[in-house]
Amino acid sequence: MKISVVGGGYVGLVTAACFAELGHDVSIIDHGPAKVKSINAKKPPIYEEGLEELLKRHVGTRLRASTSYDFIPLSDLTFICVGTPPNPDGSADLSKVEAASRSIGSVLKKSGNYHVVVVKSTVPPGTTQKIVIPAVLHEAEKSEDEMGFAMNPEFLREGHAVEDFIHPDRIVIGSRNLRDAARVANAYQGLSAPFLRTGLTAAEMIKYTSNSFLATKISFSNEIGNICKKLGIDVYEVMKGVGMDRRIGPSFLDAGAGFGGSCFPKDVHALIKLAETIGEDPILLRSVIDVNEKQPGRIVQLLRARIGELKGKRIAILGLAFKDNTDDVRESRSIPVIEELLESGVVITAYDPIANPSMHKIFPTITYCSTAADALRGAEGCLVMTEWPEFEDLKEEFDLMANKVIIEGRRILSIKGGEGICW
Ligand code: UGA
Repeated sequence: MKISVVGGGYVGLVTAACFAELGHDVSIIDHGPAKVKSINAKKPPIYEEGLEELLKRHVGTRLRASTSYDFIPLSDLTFICVGTPPNPDGSADLSKVEAASRSIGSVLKKSGNYHVVVVKSTVPPGTTQKIVIPAVLHEAEKSEDEMGFAMNPEFLREGHAVEDFIHPDRIVIGSRNLRDAARVANAYQGLSAPFLRTGLTAAEMIKYTSNSFLATKISFSNEIGNICKKLGIDVYEVMKGVGMDRRIGPSFLDAGAGFGGSCFPKDVHALIKLAETIGEDPILLRSVIDVNEKQPGRIVQLLRARIGELKGKRIAILGLAFKDNTDDVRESRSIPVIEELLESGVVITAYDPIANPSMHKIFPTITYCSTAADALRGAEGCLVMTEWPEFEDLKEEFDLMANKVIIEGRRILSIKGGEGICW
């Protein structure tokens, strides 16, 4: 098939590269010339495991990027993969989705082919029907039955996005009719995963609900973890036992400093806002955010309890990314922790395997080290903020500390006798 993907960010780029891997001819359309140049030079503008290999394999043959929408009329399917960042009130900003829809519509004006526009961006229920379809049809000067539309949410974790695309748990396709759903399903041929066909709004809601439920599992584990901490119980042992119940499942039960990233906080806030606008009081979702916002303060509180007055002390922070395997620091739980430490007069030495440059943009004055050992040398305390697997191997590096107080967010270290925010 010929596929266009509008938006060359995490979702768009991974989706495009993986569709090329499945044998399709794929064009990425992005308004950033630097990003387009980098993709065409086979260099991913973001760090994502396995992505560079895919670009090397397919750019120049069946994958390309461009700033022009001219590829769209030549393709069968166009995926909208642009960002839906939060508005100041927490609702989703849909301006990029609307602009992309208009641009797609305008280049399809003269096209006689039956084209299907697929929304992959995370959008509030009703967006495809009320914003995308009218904008595309208006610009294309076409009627409802001359074009197809679908909503196909993504469930890609950053850092594992390629793997998640190739091995999905399910492929959700929301559409108005079977014909459009079948066209989208064709694009995924070759993957072994169940398809779920729904209406447009249900597909949109599935995405918000999935992210909100996963975020709820984490906040729930953190709340249990906070209780366990006071009772002297190991929450990781508890959640292992709890997760062995098939009705509950073992994933997303790891307590720590809370969830970050560009998705969970944004999507839970957007769902809260949506609920409020229709007169619902989303008590549980609000608590999910509440627990999450308080968690970073707890790790600083614990540090204070262990080493006393923080002013003038040197603290090592291991891990800056919002999770392992990414250089993304958006909503990273290290940010509020660093802010609070700086306010308390702490001198920070930080180390992340790949996210030092990203965090440098937010905190240019703290010291970034190229190894964990350098960050730990002479430190009077250490906070492990990201679950990087390489931290598992740290042992004698901790002997370099002036005072061996080590507190973890998620449990990752293998040294004995460690303490965590929740255990
Ligand atoms: C999340 C979802 O997992 C994807 O399915 C979804 O497609 C994506 O959002 C999106 O909406 O685009 P992502 O934000 O990349 O993916 O990261 P996750 O692996 O889900 O982790 C999110 C946060 O939760 C991280 O800060 C992580 O450290 C934290 N977490 C995760 C925990 O604190 N405990 C856990 O047990 C699991």
